[in-house]
Amino acid sequence: MASALPPRLRGRVGAALSPRESMGFNDQERRTEMMLELVASFEPEVIIETGTYQGATTEWFADNSNTQIVTVESSEWFFSYAQYRLSQIPQIELIFGNSVSALQELSSNLDIVARKTLFYLDAHWNEYLPLADEIDLIMANWSDFIIVIDDFEVDDDAGYTFDDYGPGKRLDKTLIPAKHRDQLFAYYPKAKSSEETSHKRGVIVLTPKRHKDLLDGLSLLRPTPLSV
Ligand SMILES: C[S@@+](CC[C@H](N)C(=O)[O-])C[C@H]1O[C@@H](n2cnc3c(N)ncnc32)[C@H](O)[C@@H]1O
Repeated sequence: MASALPPRLRGRVGAALSPRESMGFNDQERRTEMMLELVASFEPEVIIETGTYQGATTEWFADNSNTQIVTVESSEWFFSYAQYRLSQIPQIELIFGNSVSALQELSSNLDIVARKTLFYLDAHWNEYLPLADEIDLIMANWSDFIIVIDDFEVDDDAGYTFDDYGPGKRLDKTLIPAKHRDQLFAYYPKAKSSEETSHKRGVIVLTPKRHKDLLDGLSLLRPTPLSV
C-alpha cells in the first residue's frame, strides 16, 4: 500500500512514522568529537552538505553551529523525508537535485562563494559518483573552505571502512583530481579505528594552505600526505 504512494509522499510518511535514531556522522562517537572540534575552531559561515539522506548529520550541524546550512539530495524519497524532518529549523536550506548541479548554481551566488565554507561531501551510492566533479567545482569557485569527505579510505588503518564502487570509484586519495593535490593538505582522524564506534567509516579532511595552520593545531586530526 505505502509503495503505491509517490516517492515524495512516501518520504513524508516515513519521516512521520520512523523515530529519529541517528545522531549523525554514522553514529560514530570519535567522528562526532572530531567534527565538533573542527566546527568550533573553523567557525564556518556556511556549511554545504552533499547527500542529505535522512538529515541526521544536517540536524547535528544545526544543533552545533549558528550558521546557514545548505544540503542537497537527489533521491525524491530522502529529500521528502529530510524536508519533513528538518522543516522547523530555519537555518537549513534543502535542495532537491544532483549535488554537482547544485554546487554549480551555488557557485554563481557571489555572497555564498565569499563565505568561509565547510563542505561535507557525502553524496554516494549511485552509478554516478560526483566526488571528483564536486572537488573540481569547489577548487574553481571557492577559496576559503575546508572539505570533509565521508566514507573515505584511511590508508594506514584498515579497520576504517569506506566506499568502493569499482575501478575509478573507490573513495581513496586517487579520486582527488591530481591537478588539485599539490594545492591541498590532507588530514585523517587521530583516533584509531579500534577507538571508533558504530560503523567505523573512514574520513578525510582537505584544506587549501590558508587553513593548514588551523588544522595542524587540532588535537583530533593528523596530517597525511596526498601523494599517491
Ligand atoms: C551516505 S548517504 C548521506 C548520509 C548523510 N550525509 C548523513 O550523514 O546522514 C548518501 C546520500 O547521497 C545521496 N546522493 C547520491 N548521489 C547524489 C548526488 N549526485 N547528488 C545528491 N545526492 C546524492 C543518496 O541518495 C543518499 O541519500
